[in-house]
Amino acid sequence: MQTPFLVPTADGSLTLFQPEVGEHYHSKHGALQESKHVFLESGLGYFLAQNPQPAVRILEVGLGTGLNFLLTADYAAKNSLQLEYTAIEAYPLSETLVAQTGYSHFVEEDIWKGFLTNYQQAFSSPTVICSGISLNVAKSLLADFVMEGQVDVIYFDAFAAIHQPEMWTTEALERVCRYLKPGGVFVTYAITGNLKRSMKSLGFAIEKAPGAPGKREMLRAVKLV
Ligand SMILES: C[S@@+](CC[C@H](N)C(=O)[O-])C[C@H]1O[C@@H](n2cnc3c(N)ncnc32)[C@H](O)[C@@H]1O
Repeated sequence: MQTPFLVPTADGSLTLFQPEVGEHYHSKHGALQESKHVFLESGLGYFLAQNPQPAVRILEVGLGTGLNFLLTADYAAKNSLQLEYTAIEAYPLSETLVAQTGYSHFVEEDIWKGFLTNYQQAFSSPTVICSGISLNVAKSLLADFVMEGQVDVIYFDAFAAIHQPEMWTTEALERVCRYLKPGGVFVTYAITGNLKRSMKSLGFAIEKAPGAPGKREMLRAVKLV
């Protein structure tokens, strides 16, 4: 993969553009507001509203800049929620590039410092970022991913199907959905007929949820069995 470069989005937060894929890491309408709306609020927030509990496990497809992790970790720290966060990332960014995103402004200082300090280590083993919050990143292609145990919420943040169709096949989706507990929540920023059919075939109840600014709808799916 080529090295991506930083570009501004409409809410003032930065994202990356990956020239080889021809795609941004987040919505051009606002990286911060997309991450908050799709993953933190429509994913984790929805799950916790239905299943209040003191600890959660999350699996993310595509750690990228770490924005979804950072916002989730910040929320967890402020709400005394224990967080075990696993992410898959085939093409890790350099620590230098991650440090240039400016995402330090969106989270408490200890979360940001803990993330940057432990960024490399998190690719080798589950790593404590700060009290009650751990991160483990599998440097792996989605197709090869395996993990221990099951999670409560999946953040599916792959590049769009038009650019990376192999990430959105039923087989690829099954590769992560097998690790979701019954009653667990899968969210992604996209919604297509193929995606809805795949998720139904994998045993999910699907819902069109309101999309982040600039997108009418997104998919939320709850695992039935
Ligand atoms: C839309 S971006 C993720 C954005 C990220 N969540 C963030 O907040 O910065 C998609 C990510 O998937 C990663 N990726 C691309 N192909 C992959 C594959 N086959 N397996 C695992 N990760 C992949 C890319 O390197 C990129 O970081």
